[in-house]
Amino acid sequence: MTPGGRHLVLVGLMGAGKTTVGNRSAQQLDRAFVDTDDIVEALAGMRVAELFAIAGGEAKFRDFEHQAVADACASPAPLVISTGGGAVVDAENRNRLAAAGFVVWLRAPVDVLATRLADDSDRPLLAGDAPASLSRLLALREHIYEAVADVAIDTQERSVDDVVTAVVDAYCGVTQ
Ligand code: S3P
Repeated sequence: MTPGGRHLVLVGLMGAGKTTVGNRSAQQLDRAFVDTDDIVEALAGMRVAELFAIAGGEAKFRDFEHQAVADACASPAPLVISTGGGAVVDAENRNRLAAAGFVVWLRAPVDVLATRLADDSDRPLLAGDAPASLSRLLALREHIYEAVADVAIDTQERSVDDVVTAVVDAYCGVTQ
């Protein structure tokens, strides 16, 4: 049922639903779920937002994220891996995820992402004008998500259940 024991990897911008959809997909596939941001927090001993706030914070965060991606990919048991939105910007992360997993890009327009994140205070890169930051990040990253993903799944105006079904079906090779 699972494609060669590969991990199921979710990529996409903040607000795409990677954690929610990843958790639920893992339940359906009866396997463990990991979120690279959680691994970063465990490695760093602090919250992502706290890490960004210290001197050189984003660079330190990216180092921990690099380790988190390597740790998750190295699991002998296939996992569902939710990645932080910027994880695939690093070529080594990208190659590692693509080699070890089936990569799904969860996609939504910026206004949808901004609405979902309207009450969020946990994402340092969105401090200030969140829609403008999301637009800038999408412009920088869209081609990267597209290149690394085996499949892109649109999430706007769809229930979580519907997206989970699409993700699991794509992973299991069911024709959409
Ligand atoms: C980031 C996304 C966040 C988190 C960090 C940086 C990014 O994860 O890794 O704040 O660069 O897009 P989510 O995409 O899970 O929100």
